[in-house]
Amino acid sequence: MQTMAIIGAQWGDEGKGKVTDLLAEKCDLVVRYQGGHNAGHTIWVNGQKTVLHVIPSGVLHPHCLSVIGHGVVLEPENFLNELAKIKNITNVSPDNLKISSTATVITSYHKLLDAARESQGVEKIGTTGKGIGPAYEDKMSRRGIKVKDLLDKDTLIRRLGVGYSEKAILFKHLYQIEVPSIEEEVERLYRFGLSLKDYVTDTFSLIDQKLSEGKRVLYEGAQGILLDIDYGTYPYVTSSSTGAAGIMTGAGIPGRKMEEIIGVAKAYTTRVGEGPFPTELFDEVGATLQQKGNEIGATTGRKRRCGWIDLPLLKYSVKCSQLTSICLTKLDILTHLNELKVCYAYEVNGKTVDCAYPGINLYQAKPLYKTFKGFTDDFSSGKPSAELENYISFIQESLGIPVGIYAYGPDRNQVVFRKDYF
Ligand code: GDP
Ligand code: IMO
Ligand code: MG
Repeated sequence: MQTMAIIGAQWGDEGKGKVTDLLAEKCDLVVRYQGGHNAGHTIWVNGQKTVLHVIPSGVLHPHCLSVIGHGVVLEPENFLNELAKIKNITNVSPDNLKISSTATVITSYHKLLDAARESQGVEKIGTTGKGIGPAYEDKMSRRGIKVKDLLDKDTLIRRLGVGYSEKAILFKHLYQIEVPSIEEEVERLYRFGLSLKDYVTDTFSLIDQKLSEGKRVLYEGAQGILLDIDYGTYPYVTSSSTGAAGIMTGAGIPGRKMEEIIGVAKAYTTRVGEGPFPTELFDEVGATLQQKGNEIGATTGRKRRCGWIDLPLLKYSVKCSQLTSICLTKLDILTHLNELKVCYAYEVNGKTVDCAYPGINLYQAKPLYKTFKGFTDDFSSGKPSAELENYISFIQESLGIPVGIYAYGPDRNQVVFRKDYF
């Protein structure tokens, strides 16, 4: 296995960081291909918690080269703060961490615009407020600033000016907010550029070269397929291609086929921010999942909405990203419930549908549940009880791909492998 990917199969926060860290031990490169510091990827090792936002989750293995690909949006100040923190925990240097010279930069203006729209705009998305959407807008409209532009002051002044001219009108006349002048922003970004310089390189060529040398590359997704700009629950999505397609545009797998695409899914469902959520629970069980699962966003501290596992949505995710196996996380949170429910289909306008194709209005989807006897596993034996096996088997049979890994705690080692990945 030379190329594999870890992708969120729901609305993010499925445990991608934990699984990436786990598999990175046997990989040579871990590559982030999209998103930015809207992500919060949590890793627990020997009781120590690390939350990563834009630095790839293989970084705790110094032998592993961490790559921030060109599809990522990078906020330089946040990156440098994250880097300073991670340097206290592990060995990170320009030798084992690389940033694409053509990744897009998130400026102060992007963050201010994101915040203004969320507080004053007509349709609130519930974003993380990190400037992600506005930065990707500028990239697509060809007004973006690339990381390499930070290294040359004249280019920076010119490129920042292009993006600023329209925004200035919005800031002044629509949102009435004070923003830093171009001169201030140029100084700020140029200063950060100097600190970043040694990490910046052409990562596409680097990955190409490593693959030719037979190195093993793990691509780490941020967010989840249901937050994908094209495949997700639009407009309640993020602004990037979170699924497998994003790997091609955001990092490249030069000349290779992706051999394994692992969809990470919680054994129930959570979502932060606005948008439809057919299996959302507003009762005591929902509150139990939220509290026992400590379902609080790693980036924004917001409470996550909770509900039962939703197979029509997962089936859709399997199709969107051609997932080859599932990593099912947080099974420990479901223990000691008397009964568990699995949404196997929806009733929509009198019809039963078992895949959440985008043509289905999720607000009108009434979940149909199969009820399972609860399980009380303590997971120490590595063998699931009959009840737990029943629950896992139903999920993998419905999805048509194996549950290759299941997790029962936040620590790196709290997993059971059911498939040999290497
Ligand atoms: P990511 O964004 O997909 O990397 O996930 P987050 O880190 O945002 O959220 C997942 C949360 O669940 C983190 O607090 C993890 O430490 C935790 N976690 C991951 N897997 C498990 C598990 O199997 N059981 C429990 N109890 N916690 C887990
Ligand atoms: P990880 O990688 C969960 C959600 C936000 C909001 C929507 C748009 O940790 O799984 P944005 O700031 O991206 O414009 O917000 O997407 N969102 C996430 N939800 N996990 C994430 O990342 C998320 N990143 C963004 O809550 O609903
Ligand atoms: Mg997260």
